[in-house]
Amino acid sequence: MSATDVTRTQVGIVGAGPAGLVLGHLLHLQGIESVILEDRDRAYVEGRVRAGVLEQGTVDLLIEMGVGERLKREGLVHHGVELRFGGKGHRIPFDELTGGRGITIYGQQEVVKDLIGARLEAEAPLLFEVDDVRPAGIESDSPVLRFRHEGEERELRCEVVAGCDGYHGVCRSAVPDGAFSYRERTYPFGWLGILAEVEPSSEELIYCHHDRGFALHSMRSPEVTRLYLQCEPDEDIERWPDERIWEELHTRFTCEGWSLKEGPIVEKGVTPMRSFVSEPMQHGRLFLAGDAVHIVPATGAKGLNLAVADVRVLAEALVRWFSAGDETLLENYSETCLPRVWKAQHFAWWMTSMFHRMPDDRDGFTARLQRAELEYVCSSKAAATTLAENYVGLELEDV
Ligand code: FAD
Ligand code: PHB
Repeated sequence: MSATDVTRTQVGIVGAGPAGLVLGHLLHLQGIESVILEDRDRAYVEGRVRAGVLEQGTVDLLIEMGVGERLKREGLVHHGVELRFGGKGHRIPFDELTGGRGITIYGQQEVVKDLIGARLEAEAPLLFEVDDVRPAGIESDSPVLRFRHEGEERELRCEVVAGCDGYHGVCRSAVPDGAFSYRERTYPFGWLGILAEVEPSSEELIYCHHDRGFALHSMRSPEVTRLYLQCEPDEDIERWPDERIWEELHTRFTCEGWSLKEGPIVEKGVTPMRSFVSEPMQHGRLFLAGDAVHIVPATGAKGLNLAVADVRVLAEALVRWFSAGDETLLENYSETCLPRVWKAQHFAWWMTSMFHRMPDDRDGFTARLQRAELEYVCSSKAAATTLAENYVGLELEDV
């Protein structure tokens, strides 16, 4: 039977981002059937440039799942990060402060490519370019996903629906009004991000505080640099020709004895900064995971890692339920995940608040507080450890 003929499955997964694909593969490894429905085409999903920082727990899981071969070869392991302010750099040594832990730089789209490859090799159903997905019957024990595919109206009967369809997805709105409570902050700025074909100007990431706004130096490989600039939340990318981007980056990253390498810009985009949490993360037979249920501002590099942490919990709960009929872990899904979500939310908010220029800071009071806090983080081992252990990712048993 081809993927397009399936009308019934155990877990209907909406969205082939990191959350949906990791969940699908974890279930497959345990012999549980799923169908993944994705509204975009494969090339779009594999080419979408987003996250780059993987926590150790994320890396370990991808390796355990058998999708970590390329990640092990190509991922760049970092043991520290630079905080730059007042034109000077200060290194936070993750390994010294966290008992040898670090992060791995490996693009989200590479993770997605590896997972799609594994899914197709396993011949497990993954439908791209589905339209108008409509979850129904989530309060019953046989929820349905209706959608259109290749011009035909289709219906997929499931035992459980996993909403892994990101912040703008449809699953969250399938619950009755009032079933979820939402808490959110939008920040008065966004990030303009670029990919440039040039070797990174530094071996590690640089988070830079500057009077003109935040800037971040990251990378994807020894040949590709990823850079971000704080901008207006609704910034018009047309106003940012390449020369203006480089000029602004040079200004913000100014530091004695260091220079930023320029290369052709191959990708440009603007991302708003938002914090959002829905509580709980489940209703009836619908379970939400990843950006569909929480958004963190990118300054903490936590979004992808949280998405993976959610589906790891969800997969274990589903396996227990399908294999032993024990519903306890599923019932506790939100309670298990939310403490980690809120800790990551706090860290991302803290990093965001410490680094970005606040538009209403007329007399520079907030900027002075930020400098004081940055100086403290870089001079106190306790404060540096707080940053380091959150950045590399809290151990599962700590949350
Ligand atoms: P998504 O990746 O959004 O996937 C959802 C999928 O569902 C998509 O493929 C979408 O096309 C599909 N979909 C949506 N609606 C429907 C529908 N109606 N029907 C079917 N399919 C649908 N996180 C980190 O951990 N580290 C970082 O360094 C980091 N940097 C970031 C930098 C930027 C610029 C941005 C924008 C984000 C960054 N993040 C980072 C966050 C991270 O990218 C997200 O948290 C991550 O993509 C969440 O994965 P997800 O699978 O939950 O959602
Ligand atoms: C990235 O490399 O895209 C990146 C790195 C660190 C962040 C956010 C994004 O905090």
